[in-house]
Amino acid sequence: MENSNSYISGIGSYLPSQMLTNKDLEKMVDTTDEWIVSRTGIKKRYISAKEEATSDLATKASLSAIEDAGISPNEINMIIVATFTPDMMLPSTATRVQKNIGANNASAFDISAACSGFIYGLSIAHQFIINGTMKNVLVIGAETITKYVDWSDRNTSVLFGDGAGAVVVSQNSNGAKILGFNLGANGNPPREWLMLAGGGSVNRDENILKGKKNFITMNGKEIFKFGVNILPATITTVVKKYGLTNEDIDLVIPHQANRRIIEAAAVILNIPIQKFYINIDRYANTSAASIPIAMFDARKENILNKGDIIVLAGFGAGLTWGSMLIKY
Ligand SMILES: CC(C)(COP(=O)(O)OP(=O)(O)OC[C@H]1O[C@@H](n2cnc3c(N)ncnc32)[C@H](O)[C@@H]1OP(=O)(O)O)[C@@H](O)C(=O)NCCC(=O)NCCS
Repeated sequence: MENSNSYISGIGSYLPSQMLTNKDLEKMVDTTDEWIVSRTGIKKRYISAKEEATSDLATKASLSAIEDAGISPNEINMIIVATFTPDMMLPSTATRVQKNIGANNASAFDISAACSGFIYGLSIAHQFIINGTMKNVLVIGAETITKYVDWSDRNTSVLFGDGAGAVVVSQNSNGAKILGFNLGANGNPPREWLMLAGGGSVNRDENILKGKKNFITMNGKEIFKFGVNILPATITTVVKKYGLTNEDIDLVIPHQANRRIIEAAAVILNIPIQKFYINIDRYANTSAASIPIAMFDARKENILNKGDIIVLAGFGAGLTWGSMLIKY
């Protein structure tokens, strides 16, 4: 089997139609627009409708990415959905997307790596393309997090939003290529730092609802510190690993968890903040979806251009992290 290059051949995104502003949240929980904007950078977020599943958002983002790649769904060899809010435990969200888009020649599965899930998924796609076994892999980050938010908990309810982003990773191109990645995990810190406990094998009884285990819980301060440390660390690792320096980077597209985390990372890395794409103001934290949505927006705004050297970087529950170095 011949070794090939992998590159991003298409990008798509989809946001649900219903929007919730910070002002709306002021009426629901003890918070203020001023607090949310100053502590996180978030101004609004999108909310999936009651009947709208993660696969519905994923399907729309996928169709937009496939159209952008200029291929037909039949040409997709594999579908990977990164999500921590799947339609159900079984079957996978990815098989639903496969049916919805008519990707009849694709294998399909979900992966669980929280907000790092899209980077993990991209690294899997990269392997299948560079070893020559596949031509087109669809990688989707899709979440309906607001269905798992306790709207009375101001520590979490102001932070999250719903959405989906997708990319097609394809074989060969004229110069564009995925250069490499860095992935990591540390399962030692308490799971309570960022957790959605209900529904898994640990919490299957009536205590799920009684104990509010069907909602996200978080230790914001610990996760904040983790993010500020790990974003620069994983970016530095991937940039050095492939013989580049921070000056070679045209654009960093980080996971959108908190504007202050991104700003702190920029200072540690000594990369101007202008080189970081930030759209958290519009969508809040959409977990696995945030990086592909940001890629889509950055390209639409002509901030992401052909030939750019970019770094994608994410971190999240687990703890997990990952970065990806790309010549777009
Ligand atoms: C959650 C987060 C925004 C809180 O910001 P912070 O600056 O650490 O704020 P603190 O937790 O110190 O809280 C400061 C005060 O604001 C209050 N507060 C918390 N949430 C609030 C809200 N939504 N509205 C108003 N006040 C709030 C706290 O109760 C606290 O009040 P006190 O000083 O009287 O005790 C921040 O810790 C964070 O972003 N963490 C990372 C979260 C994350 O990224 N999660 C996903 C990772 S993938």
